[in-house]
Amino acid sequence: MSGTGPRAETGAPDRTGGGVPVRQLWARAWSLAAALVVFGSAYFFIRQFFKDGVWRFDLTLVDKPLGVTALVLAAFSMALTGLVYFGWAPGRRLAMRKYYGLAAFWTGLAHGIVNHGILPATGLQTESGVGAWPAEAAGWAALAIFAVMALISDDRVRLRLGNGRWRRLLRYAGYAGLVAAAGHAALLKWPSWDRYFRTFGSVLPSLSLPAALLAAVALLLRLAVWISRRRKA
Ligand code: HEM
Repeated sequence: MSGTGPRAETGAPDRTGGGVPVRQLWARAWSLAAALVVFGSAYFFIRQFFKDGVWRFDLTLVDKPLGVTALVLAAFSMALTGLVYFGWAPGRRLAMRKYYGLAAFWTGLAHGIVNHGILPATGLQTESGVGAWPAEAAGWAALAIFAVMALISDDRVRLRLGNGRWRRLLRYAGYAGLVAAAGHAALLKWPSWDRYFRTFGSVLPSLSLPAALLAAVALLLRLAVWISRRRKA
């Protein structure tokens, strides 16, 4: 499922990421994911004190950064194409798109399982409560799209579909997934973002705000690549 490429039967390290061992690409993606979850949990813990005046740590403060991490990783994965195209990142970084994308899927899945399964089972409730159905639907849609991308990211699917069709499919699915994920966050957190911009500084902003801005930048970058390619054609 992870699509680690043509792993040699001999046990030699699999090198599909521009010469970098696949294990190293996974390690990079998971270290970033872990760092974001740890940072996000600490951030939401402190934010809760400023907002509600309580020092309390529970699973709701891990659920939030799992969602934020999934959104940030998906945005990084999508942004890399534009960053490399405009010469703002070295070409070898493109190999990370797949690993950031897969880590986004797994953290998004963990977030969905925690807030829909584990939190209610332990009597805890998310800050936003049960979201309205459009927000929930957007979350599930993002997860379903990332799941399909994870499945087809395998090299065997690429060989079967042909390189061009496979890349196009992943590209369009990626943007649809990113729009659904950012839409899910916006539908749930709009009142919190709005309050922050109206009162500035009374409460630290939810981390979903910079994460959603990052997703918007990734989409704009992609649009810029498309415009630049059309001009050149
Ligand atoms: C890959 C898919 C997903 C991404 C990227 C994602 C992302 C996010 C983000 C960024 C937040 C805002 C966190 C905050 O600042 O409070 C959030 C909140 C939330 N998400 Fe997701 N999500 C995904 C899938 C899901 C799914 C499948 C569900 C299940 C219905 C879900 C339910 C929720 C709920 C209930 C909240 C509110 C949490 C709170 O207010 O404490 N999400 N999500």
